[in-house]
Amino acid sequence: MRFPEDFVWGAATASYQIEGAAFEDGRGESIWDRFSKTPGKVLNGDTGDVACNHYHLFKEDVALIKELGVDSYRFSLAWPRILPEGKGSVNQKGLDFYKRLIHELLEQGVSPAVTLYHWDLPQVLEDLGGWLNRDTAKYFADYAQVAFRELGDVIDSWITLNEPWCSAFLGYGNGEHAPGKKDFPSHFRAAHHLLLGHGLVVEGYRQLNLGADIGITLNLAPQYPASPDPRDIAAARKADGFQNRWYLDPIFKGRYPSDLEEFMAYVSPAIQPGDLELISQPNDFLGINFYSRGLVAADANGEPQRQKPERSVTAMGWEVYPEALYDLLLRVHQDYGPLPLYITENGAAYEDVVEQGRIKDHKRQAYLEEHIAQCARAIDSGIPLQGYYVWSLLDNFEWAFGYDRRFGIIYVDFDTQERILKDSALWYQSFLRS
Ligand code: FCB
Repeated sequence: MRFPEDFVWGAATASYQIEGAAFEDGRGESIWDRFSKTPGKVLNGDTGDVACNHYHLFKEDVALIKELGVDSYRFSLAWPRILPEGKGSVNQKGLDFYKRLIHELLEQGVSPAVTLYHWDLPQVLEDLGGWLNRDTAKYFADYAQVAFRELGDVIDSWITLNEPWCSAFLGYGNGEHAPGKKDFPSHFRAAHHLLLGHGLVVEGYRQLNLGADIGITLNLAPQYPASPDPRDIAAARKADGFQNRWYLDPIFKGRYPSDLEEFMAYVSPAIQPGDLELISQPNDFLGINFYSRGLVAADANGEPQRQKPERSVTAMGWEVYPEALYDLLLRVHQDYGPLPLYITENGAAYEDVVEQGRIKDHKRQAYLEEHIAQCARAIDSGIPLQGYYVWSLLDNFEWAFGYDRRFGIIYVDFDTQERILKDSALWYQSFLRS
């Protein structure tokens, strides 16, 4: 495998999943605090109250990041730590935490890649309607301005939103994620406001002339038809429209996919003049989170129906299908590029066993190797892929699955907060050295 000299290698996390210290130093409540404490929402009743206690252990964690040998660390800012009321007054102690973290990273020669929104909306804003409320997009842009002004002099890379499909659909469509609303039609409004927020944040960033890169991270998954039957092909295209094009098209083409008429009817009332121009202003890169593919057949009504995986699956039940990553990169490049691309998340959950202080997670290692090989293939084909971040640096709070699903290349004992480099981390380390 060959990679350009300046290819960025990294590892990623997100605030609510690792920080803990949920009530310290003036942090406000987030929708995930509320949701995880609502009975039945998260497996085993787990919450992010303590998580990896990264808020207190960040120096040790940065030392591990350094030990791994990555170039860059992707993490997110907790909006309610910086603005406990969602808007208005700034919580200096919250900001100071991120300043300490960034300082530590820079001291160790690791470049910080900062996500502004990885799902922990201040609960006070949810009480005003959350992402169903158009004003939330504006509050998001205001919060981003605080982050840019306070931290922007030393950050090389900003990501506005992480996976708006998840925030919108899982949060407001099927209720599997915070805030747990279940209304399919209105989740398109939430999605539109998230995209609008992205556009406003990018616009605000450009006005500051800080000179770093800004982009968005989408969770993309190619949707393959289960057979050459035209009905299956049409169903796969619809699934692709729902999962992928609904976000790619407005951001990179300034319009929603018009083949999805019923979805258009849901979103249209939320669109105001000028919105799509804002949403589609130029990004410096696109971040892609890739885990798996979809295999789709048409049901009796022609609607997409997910088919059983054909190959092995991870502990999430997600099919391991590395070639789909290559197909995806090629397609994104052809349909939406040219544009620098990053894999901002890729990784796998498996059941880890600690044997005499060692975790032989060879399936995870194979998963990473096979996906990295597809990245090399993409680069060979001339696709401008510029970096790759493993999800995740640490085992952490995996949303509705709590601590039950481990994605880390570093094992975390949640009772003692001990960290152990799994074999996959040792492999990544030696791969990066070579
Ligand atoms: C992505 C999320 C990330 C993590 C992985 C497994 O959808 O961005 O926080 O939960 O899935």
